[in-house]
Amino acid sequence: MKKIGFIGAGNMGTAMIRGLATANLVEKEDIIVCGRHIEKIQPLETEFNGLLLTTNPEKLVEQADIIILSVKPYTIPEILTSVKDKLTSDKIIISVAAGVTINDLEELTSSTAKIVRVMPNTPALVGEAMSSISPNANVTSEETQQISAIFSSFGESEVVPESLMDAVVGVSGSSPAYVYMFIEALADGAVLNGMPRDKAYKFAAQAVLGAAKMVLETGEHPGKLKDMVTSPGGTTIEAVKSLEDNGFRSAVLSAVQAAAQKNSSM
Ligand SMILES: NC(=O)c1ccc[n+]([C@@H]2O[C@H](COP(=O)([O-])OP(=O)(O)OC[C@H]3O[C@@H](n4cnc5c(N)ncnc54)[C@H](OP(=O)(O)O)[C@@H]3O)[C@@H](O)[C@H]2O)c1
Repeated sequence: MKKIGFIGAGNMGTAMIRGLATANLVEKEDIIVCGRHIEKIQPLETEFNGLLLTTNPEKLVEQADIIILSVKPYTIPEILTSVKDKLTSDKIIISVAAGVTINDLEELTSSTAKIVRVMPNTPALVGEAMSSISPNANVTSEETQQISAIFSSFGESEVVPESLMDAVVGVSGSSPAYVYMFIEALADGAVLNGMPRDKAYKFAAQAVLGAAKMVLETGEHPGKLKDMVTSPGGTTIEAVKSLEDNGFRSAVLSAVQAAAQKNSSM
């Protein structure tokens, strides 16, 4: 496996680094992390002995074959401009930044650069990310497979056209936040009915995990799975009616649309 360098180790970068280091797909010595402040990235080295740390993006680009940009979108132009001389044509640049297009990245590097736009999500931290992968025309199918292997080492990944990026941001990039809100609200409902709070979070989160697994592992339509739990005149259909009365589906659909629109306007 090649050397993989991360520029930026905040929420998303750390989730990917932890996921990759835990998955054992690459040797720890083949993971290089670049942050602005060494004291902020030092804990990663303590946790995963062997990772290489630097505060110098140029040094990282010199050493890494695959460079993953996990910094805020507005810092990308400055970083890519500063390392442009070191970006030889064999290196693969991966950006996870919302709203930064392949075209933007080509303009900041060169039209012959190997660019991949990826949209992961923070469950990478526990090996359950969902990542979309959109390579430009300079990336070979073998290289795309290598990138897919990296992102599949801490979750699931799918190669999709860049035109689907807004939808990806809405449905998986941002959605852990909406699901946490759902879990919190489920637990609040249980607390309202007398359950201690620590138990309520466990019941709520495991119910969401189990339902998600049912969708993925049975391959059944979510509507059919919902029908299987709603017995006539029972408790669940009462809850379903309440959710419909309160615009649950419409609220979720609008949230996905809002995230997608924001991504396209960035
Ligand atoms: N969070 C998510 O759920 C999520 C999901 C999908 C995609 N993304 C994308 O991931 C990217 C990072 O988001 P985030 O939530 O991880 O942001 P974040 O927590 O703010 O992390 C950004 C990191 O970049 C570092 N940084 C800034 N300038 C740098 C430089 N010149 N060289 C090296 N490191 C530098 C920052 O270091 P300092 O703290 O020292 O400034 C910080 O640790 C964004 O583009 C976002 O669109 C995020």
